[in-house]
Amino acid sequence: MAPFTSLLLLLFAFLGTVTPAKSMPAFFPRASYYQSLTAKQSKATKPKVAYKTHYFPQILDHFTFQPKSSKIFYQKYLINSQYWHRGAPIFVYTGNEGDIDWFAANTGFLLDIAPKFRALLVFIEHRFYGESMPFGKDSYNSVETLGYLNSQQALADFAVLLRSLKHNLSSEASPVVVFGGSYGGMLAAWFRLKYPHIAIGALASSAPILQFDDITPWSSFYDAVSQDYKDASLNCYEVIKGSWAELEALSAQKEGLVELSRTFRTCKNLHSLDSVWDWLWSAFVYTAMVNYPTEANFMMPLPAYPVKEMCKIIDGFPPRASKISRVFAAASLYYNYSRGEKCFQLENEPDSHGLHGWNWQACTEMVMPMTCSIESMFPPSGYDYKEFAEGCKKKYGVTPRPHWITTEFGGKRIDQVLKRSGGNIIFSNGMQDPWSRGSVLKNISSSIIALVTKKGAHHVDFRSATKDDPDWLKELRRQEAEIIGRWIDEYYADLKQGIDNA
Ligand SMILES: *[C@@H]1O[C@H](CO)[C@@H](O)[C@H](O)[C@H]1NC(C)=O
Ligand SMILES: *[C@@H]1O[C@H](CO)[C@@H](O)[C@H](O)[C@H]1NC(C)=O
Ligand SMILES: *[C@@H]1O[C@H](CO)[C@@H](O)[C@H](O)[C@H]1NC(C)=O
Repeated sequence: MAPFTSLLLLLFAFLGTVTPAKSMPAFFPRASYYQSLTAKQSKATKPKVAYKTHYFPQILDHFTFQPKSSKIFYQKYLINSQYWHRGAPIFVYTGNEGDIDWFAANTGFLLDIAPKFRALLVFIEHRFYGESMPFGKDSYNSVETLGYLNSQQALADFAVLLRSLKHNLSSEASPVVVFGGSYGGMLAAWFRLKYPHIAIGALASSAPILQFDDITPWSSFYDAVSQDYKDASLNCYEVIKGSWAELEALSAQKEGLVELSRTFRTCKNLHSLDSVWDWLWSAFVYTAMVNYPTEANFMMPLPAYPVKEMCKIIDGFPPRASKISRVFAAASLYYNYSRGEKCFQLENEPDSHGLHGWNWQACTEMVMPMTCSIESMFPPSGYDYKEFAEGCKKKYGVTPRPHWITTEFGGKRIDQVLKRSGGNIIFSNGMQDPWSRGSVLKNISSSIIALVTKKGAHHVDFRSATKDDPDWLKELRRQEAEIIGRWIDEYYADLKQGIDNA
């Protein structure tokens, strides 16, 4: 099986059951966790200020002129205009693979900085996610419809919508700055490169634009996850690393799955070991991604520095305790920190939320090869492109284009290329986040800047400021706002000069 890691969360796609190689995690977690979490979250972390919801009549296909190309669908976007006046900046979140409300609720940073810039805030939903379904509930039915789901169409959607919005607001001269986290951060950076006439700059947080081809070592993602646990405690890392063999051995025994069902407190008896692996795998990977310095509720409600907390649980067992019981207890922190779970749902979860979208993207253009090295805390696994492509063919009837993203957006020798051709992009990354390894971690020019924090996690900078924030996080956000302020000042200065010279 080859699960994908969607950028934010992990969404597992089973492309046949070949080897237990978890090569490609998804940014999103499995659907039911996501659903229960969004349901819980929508109560817990409502945006401080309500955004107004709008629907924009968007064109289906920006790149061909077939009869069907001009079909209209309704693209959802959110607006907050409480600080704005005509001519002032427009801050746009380029939506990624999920409901836009959820990203708005978790990007309090924009609300925090909007007053200072008197900025209009706009969150645009990505086509084929949330409510922005080009073919309604049939959007995922076939390749015919899914064919319109790709990053280039999404970027063009943003461009078309923004032009219309500025026109309607009679504010054509407002500078636009795009923001995005994770896959949304990739979109923000690419938007700035492809549409410099629409966005004056981009803040791309935790955006692994180099996780393609062989630009980033394939094992780096899982090595980085493992490093987080190793840094917390060597014993913790070793227990997790050793738990997979213990699981394998137990499941091979008669009644092994029954015992595992009991140990893992599953709601229904387990049919295979795979779901246990995925369940643990997700807990460890996501917790590494969201190893935030404060209590947070992004993927799941979790305490501050949750990796350290998990390792405390593992290290706290008596020496004779089985590794299985320890990793179960650690994973329970992830799934049951709210203490509300009566049992755990490990398999056969429905996906009624349309989150399969990332699987499609991973099977077409978002091909991110990943392996587990001997040093990682996961069982070693290789990456077999042929096997992956066959799985995609079987599942969707498509053949991936593994080199398309780097052809369309670049990536190789990115520093030399962008030094001469790009500007006004911040790549921010926290080294706790395994996705950081596939992002830009070095300054490229005076205006393509990498902000790297050792203790940061998956787009931690985008979260609302809290009173518990450590100094490095406050400083990171301050620096981001300062740089963006500089871009805006330059823009207005150029604008003024243009008018003066006319
Ligand atoms: C701008 O106004 C037109 C005409 O009312 C409307 O169809 C369109 O949706 C508006 N654009 C945006 C981005 O809301
Ligand atoms: C979740 O936590 C609560 C409180 O500690 C506990 O009573 C419950 O059994 C836990 N659920 C599972 C499935 O372990
Ligand atoms: C990039 O430059 C900024 C100053 O403009 C600095 O604060 C930052 O630490 C540099 N980033 C790296 C990764 O060296």
